[in-house]
Amino acid sequence: MNVSDILQPVIENPNMPPYEEARANFDWKDVEKAFTWHETGKVNMAYEAIDRHADTWRKNKVALYYSDQKRDEKYTFQEMKYLSNRFGNVLRNIGIEKGDRVFLFMPRSPEVYVSVMGILKVGAVVGPLFEAFMEQAVRDRLENSEAVAIVTTPALLPRVPYKDLPHLKHIILVGDEVPENDEHANFYNFEEEMANASEQLEIEWVEREDPMILHYTSGSTGKPKGVLHVHNAMIQHYQTAKWILDLKDEDIFWCTADPGWVTGTSYGIFGPWLNGATSVIRGGRFSPEDWYSTIEKYKVTIWYSAPTAFRRLMAAGDDIINNYDLSSLRHILSVGEPLNAEVVHWGKKVYGLNIHDNWWMTETGGILIANYPSMPLKPGSMGRPFPGIEVAILDENGNELPRGQMGSLCIKTDWPSMMRKIWKNEEKFKEYFAIPGWYISGDLASMDEDGYVWFGGRDDDVIMTSGERVGPFEIESKLVEHPAVAEAAVIGKPDEVRGEIIKAFVALKDGYTESDELNEDLRRHVKEGLAAHAVPREIEVKDSLPKTRSGKIMRRVLKAWELGLPTGDLSTMED
Ligand code: WTA
Repeated sequence: MNVSDILQPVIENPNMPPYEEARANFDWKDVEKAFTWHETGKVNMAYEAIDRHADTWRKNKVALYYSDQKRDEKYTFQEMKYLSNRFGNVLRNIGIEKGDRVFLFMPRSPEVYVSVMGILKVGAVVGPLFEAFMEQAVRDRLENSEAVAIVTTPALLPRVPYKDLPHLKHIILVGDEVPENDEHANFYNFEEEMANASEQLEIEWVEREDPMILHYTSGSTGKPKGVLHVHNAMIQHYQTAKWILDLKDEDIFWCTADPGWVTGTSYGIFGPWLNGATSVIRGGRFSPEDWYSTIEKYKVTIWYSAPTAFRRLMAAGDDIINNYDLSSLRHILSVGEPLNAEVVHWGKKVYGLNIHDNWWMTETGGILIANYPSMPLKPGSMGRPFPGIEVAILDENGNELPRGQMGSLCIKTDWPSMMRKIWKNEEKFKEYFAIPGWYISGDLASMDEDGYVWFGGRDDDVIMTSGERVGPFEIESKLVEHPAVAEAAVIGKPDEVRGEIIKAFVALKDGYTESDELNEDLRRHVKEGLAAHAVPREIEVKDSLPKTRSGKIMRRVLKAWELGLPTGDLSTMED
């Protein structure tokens, strides 16, 4: 890295003080003072996110702008308060109690956000699902969690095998076709129930350690794991959103993530609303035109998205950007996957802003490592630990590795939004804490002399070739720098001589076609830019790469295809 590569902060007066200062003075205890429960002792995430603002000057402030191909709506904090009160009453009327799991299985819509808050208000636990899940994926999650109710749509109902799920007694449908009750379940019409429910609700006050949300996440093997978070997580959601997203009252914030993914709840719902910010939610599918016009239409100021989206926007070319007025943007962030330095430099060129990468996991509940608006940014790095968070790079025995060396990325326990359990899987939960005092992320990373953390890959994605340990991300980033390459995924393929050889899968940009010359050029590019041992011996061009719904390239699936092995759980794979 050259010093000239470092990007200086461009945001004026960020909420967060300079990094060293913020770190030196930080205490999670101080953050608690932001919440009403600090005074009243009455805890509930939904109260802090919505009702609290509805009782202040923010009551007529827009909490949510929602639009898709058919709808275009907005809701103030006060409207959200009353709508979620109504939904809380709907749930109470049908007998939902504190601690019950209530799932959401529908496309993004205002009803999703109203439901989340209503579920929380009666002390129940939210279980978000991706609308694209097929029956097996839905079944696994509802079965494991013993969900008692689900909010879904008539179109998705065939994928809810309620007859085989003895706990699932209540099905609330957003849409007109509501079946008759049968011996397995009662059916309700969302609109009708809402219309009949009272706008006044006694919130169920809970303990900070009471369950709040259950996010299922897939590992490389086995069934999806139910990661449980508690109301206490709000401390982290609030403070990270304030300092990393840099939310201010005049901001219009757009988190592009679906609530089926933890980013779409921690920072698509809780973080912004705890800060009293206005959120934009856009339904429907991704297209560069649609996204740029969304920014233009709402004058979005802060935009939180993912590398896969930025790479697709980059591949769509720079010209299209001239057709939109994106001048409202002042802050851009990315999460979910490694953000290639190339993308950061491109972002600087076309948006005039730094794209701030940050790192966390479903299990961590909130951001733990980030590039902050108040700190110089090193493109390709995930940034530095959040104040109050201690990160270390450990070897297999739990010893700290020297700066610059790649090892296991671990976090000193604990922090406010850490998961509290893996639902009905104590053994799995314990694996994360096998090194006493540390949370083991399962990612590989290194830390440089300045304390910036660099991503290496998932532990299980590491390649051993001719005795060298190679992380796929470096090679992928090098490949993406090549003008022909839109996306790249690199795996290790067993080889008798070398242990593993490096195989690269690439998707090409429009206008480029597969050829031996191109492959040679890609190899030369990696060799000259990185190292001879990092050169992919095999390169395969694909139309697209398999990804999760949150945009992560599924290297394990490519590897399984390559080796003719079972692919494991595919429920989170994009269509
Ligand atoms: C990966 C996402 C590189 C990582 C909020 C992690 C990243 C997993 C980054 C968690 C990043 C997330 N750079 N890799 N900035 N952010 N990851 O549970 O492997 O969907 O362990 O949560 O995504 O993914 P999850």
